[in-house]
Amino acid sequence: MLNFNYYGHSCFQIDDGKYKLVFDPFLTGNPQASIKADDVKADYVLISHGHSDHICDAYSVAINNSATVITIPEVTDFVGEDIKSIAMNLGGSVQLPFGFVRMVPALHSSGIGGGIAHGFVVNIAGKNIYYAGDTALFSDMKLIGQRDSIDWAILPIGGHFTMDAVDAAKAVEFLNAKNVIPVHYNTWDVINQNPEDFKALLKGANVQIVQPGESLNLDA
Ligand code: NI
Ligand code: MN
Repeated sequence: MLNFNYYGHSCFQIDDGKYKLVFDPFLTGNPQASIKADDVKADYVLISHGHSDHICDAYSVAINNSATVITIPEVTDFVGEDIKSIAMNLGGSVQLPFGFVRMVPALHSSGIGGGIAHGFVVNIAGKNIYYAGDTALFSDMKLIGQRDSIDWAILPIGGHFTMDAVDAAKAVEFLNAKNVIPVHYNTWDVINQNPEDFKALLKGANVQIVQPGESLNLDA
């Protein structure tokens, strides 16, 4: 049973029933937050880059859960010296008890000098999940989809800071992703989007719109 539990903005948990992976913990000050940082359960915390809307609660979630932070070295150093961490870099893969984590490029600024923004392909419960982080559209997304058959793509659609719905729809095509969950929209006025517009652009993929506080089963 593989579940996606959406906490708002780009913060979510993937839970295979044994391991809990939390992505980009931003709950404190997040107008969409459906959970308090202190209530988040995690075995691993994956961070796409150092902007505060992705990293702000990383330290507390890691410490509270004795969880392992997975991100690029400059960002693991920033989160704290007293956390458990796996520092990796673009193109690298790490085998973990649930599957693998592969770090893939993103096109975005870093928030922390040198700690460039990235995405992840996570293999868990037999599914390949691509989380783009914050990014513009780039044609090398095709390479990500060629390496791993993408069962679920979790993509920003809000525009302004990332790709918008039109470019995210093109990303789905490049990735050849079967199923898609949009994130990083409607948190603030500048990234307001109607996710139904994104859905309407995509005929070949299954788009699942998840509201903060809702869960989605990813086994399908
Ligand atoms: Ni960002
Ligand atoms: Mn962001």
